Amino acid sequence: MGATGLLDLLARYLHLAGVLVWVGHNWANVVTRPFYRRVLPDDPPEAIREVLLAASRREHGVFRYASLAVLASGLLMLWIRDEIVGALTLSGPAFWIGLGVWTGAAMVLNLWFVLWPHQKKTLGFVPAPVEERLRCTRITFVSSRVNSVLSLATLFFMVMGAHGG
Ligand code: HEM
Repeated sequence: MGATGLLDLLARYLHLAGVLVWVGHNWANVVTRPFYRRVLPDDPPEAIREVLLAASRREHGVFRYASLAVLASGLLMLWIRDEIVGALTLSGPAFWIGLGVWTGAAMVLNLWFVLWPHQKKTLGFVPAPVEERLRCTRITFVSSRVNSVLSLATLFFMVMGAHGG
């Protein structure tokens, strides 16, 4: 296997690992919080507040950055295979993977530009008045569920693209 083949293999592996971490976290949340509740997470006791907040930051940071690993490795595979234009224009054999790229990109944008700005207030990473934090719980919830639904479509398109639609 040449250097390009090896890079493609590593990108594919990173892509799948990133999908596991990111989408796994999203679906774990569907299971633990199936319905919306207009409540804020408990304020941790002062003595261990920083430790718990740091753990929560790490947890959410890992899954947020996993989404960038998925995006970057996906684009790298398309670039190595010279399929970027075909995928983005939904043409020829790259049609299915292209659909997946667009729904996957929507997931990344939704995570970083809708979910995260609200989630960091909900979780108390940045200070905000209680009413504002409660408003953010709703947006965070809906945005997360939008990604759950999109993940099903994206997985399907990606597999169709890789194994023949
Ligand atoms: C964000 C932009 C994304 C891009 C550019 C992208 C691109 C790609 C590419 C090029 C492949 C290789 C297909 C092949 O080997 O022929 C692939 C495979 C795959 N992608 Fe993505 N992807 C993205 C997001 C996602 C997301 C969000 C998910 C999960 C919800 C996902 C799940 C998968 C899976 C499971 C495979 C393996 C398919 C298989 O081998 O059956 N991808 N992706």
